[in-house]
Amino acid sequence: MPRWKRRAYNIAALRAQARRVLPRAVFDFVDGGAGDEHTLRRNASAFDDVALYPRPIGGTRERDLSTTLFGRQLSMPLIVPPTGLAGLLWPDGEAASASAATKAGSIYALSHGSVCSLEELAENDIEPLWFQTYIFKDRGLTHEMAARAEAAGYEALIVTIDTQLLGNRERDIRNGFVIPPTMSAREVANMATKLGWLFRMRHVIPNITFGNYRRPDGGEDLTALAQRMLRLPDPGMQWRDIADLRAVWKGPLLLKGILHPADAVEAVANGVDGMFVSNHGGRQLDGAASALDALPAVAEAVGGRAAVILDGGIRRGAHIVKALALGADCCTVGRPQFWGLSVAGEAGVSHVFDIFRRELDLTMGLCGLPNIASIGPDVLARGTATETARLAAASEAVAAAAAAVVESGNAAENGGGDGAGEKAVPIAETGGPAGPEPTRYGDWERKGRAIDF
Ligand code: FNR
Repeated sequence: MPRWKRRAYNIAALRAQARRVLPRAVFDFVDGGAGDEHTLRRNASAFDDVALYPRPIGGTRERDLSTTLFGRQLSMPLIVPPTGLAGLLWPDGEAASASAATKAGSIYALSHGSVCSLEELAENDIEPLWFQTYIFKDRGLTHEMAARAEAAGYEALIVTIDTQLLGNRERDIRNGFVIPPTMSAREVANMATKLGWLFRMRHVIPNITFGNYRRPDGGEDLTALAQRMLRLPDPGMQWRDIADLRAVWKGPLLLKGILHPADAVEAVANGVDGMFVSNHGGRQLDGAASALDALPAVAEAVGGRAAVILDGGIRRGAHIVKALALGADCCTVGRPQFWGLSVAGEAGVSHVFDIFRRELDLTMGLCGLPNIASIGPDVLARGTATETARLAAASEAVAAAAAAVVESGNAAENGGGDGAGEKAVPIAETGGPAGPEPTRYGDWERKGRAIDF
């Protein structure tokens, strides 16, 4: 076994190795969050507030970790969310990560901000193909990206809604990892000490680009390209833009960046098939709720009508069990995938999947859980003060959200209210929650619910 693998006995140990091999500015770009990084830290620490309640008798000798997402069988409920600039960490980083995900029986979602283009990734043996995009100020570009993804064989389209403005990434500012770059002599010197990375990337660095935005004439340097990209997403996007995209995208359509249950309800009303409960890994709005804290209310508001994917802070197999018990259908692994990629390319990402598979299997075994469908609220120790507070908050949030959406639907019907026209479909007409009557969190039963669309 190679030394890096022996040392990477868990995700935290892998992160420590990534820190050693990457230039500081690049490591911080991956590792950092916005502002004081409160949300970044809370994404992970929220899992500590949820306790498991093992019931060992009745377990099985072997566990079945597989699940289904949009008709696709996954080896376990863990996928790679869109993460830009993978090609800065390892040559052909996107293809390396995607290949590891495919071989692990998982899904890799290509970021709009990838180094390779979506067409280039599709030339590899990757299945299924997922692509992430934005609502751009130029709606023609939004639809052009979707059309390109469809033509290249992409199955699912993710619209990230929380990056309409770029978050305040202070580590990047400190390191000069900004557009245009302003690296100090110290940062450049630090890069020169990372010999393995420098050697691997020596032919790649001059060609780093944002493949999906390259102009056919190629006559734009990276800085100009990145500056142009920053101005493209539309902070003025509306629900009708989601509905417009729904009308043209035939495969699964997912929103990424949902935290509020009312938005979850709107998403379903606008025909969305799935959503990432996410704050962008704490990289956008510092002070935003953690993904796990937001999850129960979103899952309850969705009520099984769309796939709910917990995105942020997953570092242990036990975290997957906790997220599924709180209503998620699947989880993601963002930074850990990048740490694995930085240390050993495709083999590093494969190792990340192996770590999660081992830990998830062990957690399920110790809890007496034979398969993914058996993971439900019962596995949580609900007597704890934090858990009781969480459940109460979830129920209250759903009640408030449902009331707000119904109210705005009524306002739209009456032609009144600010931005009433933005609500594409009044929720009361969609078979969604008819009124503020939340089911009690503890009552819902998700055992055996297939995630099939
Ligand atoms: C991201 N993320 C992200 N999300 C997205 O929708 N489009 C993107 O291009 C990127 N790019 C990106 C780059 C890097 C370096 C990171 C770390 C993250 C956010 C990502 O999809 C996911 O939401 C978080 O990574 C989840 O948190 P964890 O798993 O990193 O804790």
